[in-house]
Amino acid sequence: MRDLKLNLCISSAQLYVAGTSIEEIQRKYGLEEIIKLASNENALGPSPRAVEAMRGALASIHRYPPVADDELRAKLASTFSDSGLSEECFITGNGSCDVLAMITRAFICEEGDEAIICPPTFVMYEILVNICGGKCVFVNLKDDFTCDLSQVLANITERTRLIFLCNPNNPTGTMISRDELDDFLAKVPSSVLVVVDEAYWEYADPGLLPDTLAHIREGRNVLSIRTFSKVYGLAGLRIGYGIAYEELAQYIRRLRMPFHINAVAMRGAIAALDDREHVEKSVQHNEVEREFLYAGLEDLELPYVRSQSNFIIVKPGYDPQVIYERMLEKGVIIRPMAAFRAPDCFRITVGTRAENERLLQVLDDVMDGLRQGR
Ligand SMILES: Cc1ncc(COP(=O)(O)O)c(C=O)c1O
Repeated sequence: MRDLKLNLCISSAQLYVAGTSIEEIQRKYGLEEIIKLASNENALGPSPRAVEAMRGALASIHRYPPVADDELRAKLASTFSDSGLSEECFITGNGSCDVLAMITRAFICEEGDEAIICPPTFVMYEILVNICGGKCVFVNLKDDFTCDLSQVLANITERTRLIFLCNPNNPTGTMISRDELDDFLAKVPSSVLVVVDEAYWEYADPGLLPDTLAHIREGRNVLSIRTFSKVYGLAGLRIGYGIAYEELAQYIRRLRMPFHINAVAMRGAIAALDDREHVEKSVQHNEVEREFLYAGLEDLELPYVRSQSNFIIVKPGYDPQVIYERMLEKGVIIRPMAAFRAPDCFRITVGTRAENERLLQVLDDVMDGLRQGR
């Protein structure tokens, strides 16, 4: 590399560190039973209909997939037919991160182009903007972890190209309501694209949820990000999508690689969209188990924030990194949130009842030790 001229934006960018994997901990501690509640995966597993469809796709895996993703985009358009958006409005990707990368590349084009980000939030926005040579303008969440939209507006400059809003927000589970988003979008200049990352929207209270698709239908510079990784239980498959008005979606789709969605993922996603039962079961499970976890955290006197998603942020009053490491030793993986700019918090994903019981038991043990100065 010595004589190569490197792109400093790439060589100095922070690396994404994913939640610790089960295999890693099995190897490190020689433990049999590991519980992973670190990456906001679906506690109930994948959609059974998706699994069946993917099995069927395996026999033809020697063939390239269709170069276009028309079938999936048509299925998405029919799934959201109430919104009146055509298949031209959808951008598919190898996970929604892939779509986020396309958007950033499409709009952060010159050094100093700005993107507004509201931490603590999903760390990929910051990483992608840095890689593209942009400038991250941070507008911190308020003390109650809600988004400070008036400060976001106050930080818009002539160089602002993108605003990233995560709704519900990972890792806090807090949400921008429909009225708040409507009011905000009416004030954002038309030169700025607002990316609303709705990776967890299915878990949120539908009464509070903004109607981003209505804004897109009206031709606003709004782009919604969604994924098959969360409520559909297909995180390992890598498939997600974005929604925008036609012209904008077509512009971003130019950045797709040939065969960017693999053939198995395409079949799995299409089948998952038909599996409403799995989605409903997953959402109901999440509501019940989130309440169970709230009650457990209250018993342990651990401050947390009520969540509109399938995870809960906890502010333990002790070093979250120490808590994380002690829990790892006992086979429970949680996620400390320093990388997401919440160094005094950790995040837990809602699991099955057995997993949640085990998590609370181990957390009780670890907190007991810390409170007694051990
Ligand atoms: C807010 C948010 N957006 C996007 C993603 C990326 O999801 P994927 O690339 O698996 O679709 C995640 C993953 O955790 C997330 O939390």
